[in-house]
Amino acid sequence: MLNFQKASFVSSYGVPEQLPPTQQMEIAFAGRSNVGKSSMLNRLFGRKRLARVSSVPGKTATINFYRLDSVFCVDLPGYGYAKASKKERERLDRLVSGYFSDDRDLLLVVILLDIRRAPSELDRKMIDLCISQELPFLLLLTKADKFSASRQKEQLLLFKKEIPYADQITMLPFSAVTGQGVEELRSILNELCADGEDESSK
Ligand code: GTP
Ligand code: MG
Repeated sequence: MLNFQKASFVSSYGVPEQLPPTQQMEIAFAGRSNVGKSSMLNRLFGRKRLARVSSVPGKTATINFYRLDSVFCVDLPGYGYAKASKKERERLDRLVSGYFSDDRDLLLVVILLDIRRAPSELDRKMIDLCISQELPFLLLLTKADKFSASRQKEQLLLFKKEIPYADQITMLPFSAVTGQGVEELRSILNELCADGEDESSK
């Protein structure tokens, strides 16, 4: 079982060239700016402020690695932050695409989508990238607390219509505010990591 409460910050990278070669399996968290990646990590780890969060989008301006037992959780900067300067947006996009073109050992990519919004062009690109690179991924539908249970179900159906291969993709409503979905996510990660250990001990 993963020891989520013991997760700790390892390092930040501001340009893709700084990224060290992959050392351990990584779980990457990707999504539009402000979708709630850092808040989700804090909820997952059961820690208030391990990953930095603000009401201003574009808070995470570096790739941040957190150690979770024998895996690294990787908090990526958000894509598509419209208000950032062109130069800054380019740097952030280069960081995210640099990360995904670096042949990392990825156990899973968690793509976060705001449950209230239809997937954007950039969200689709992220999903397509995982499909074309054959990366295992799941969709976390964040800010679920903004909707009632029945509204969440409706949105889930809408996502299933909009997203290719939806019947093969895990989609999990999540809220960093209420904790909805956190136990499901923890058990998915626990299972993945347990499988990984079985493999290496063979
Ligand atoms: P970048 O680092 O800019 O890419 O943003 P991020 O995806 O890391 O988002 P972050 O966690 O910083 O959250 C952005 C805003 O959304 C903050 O104001 C959070 O408080 C809010 N937020 C995040 N998750 C939730 C959630 O589950 N429910 C609600 N209601 N608000 C949330
Ligand atoms: Mg962030």
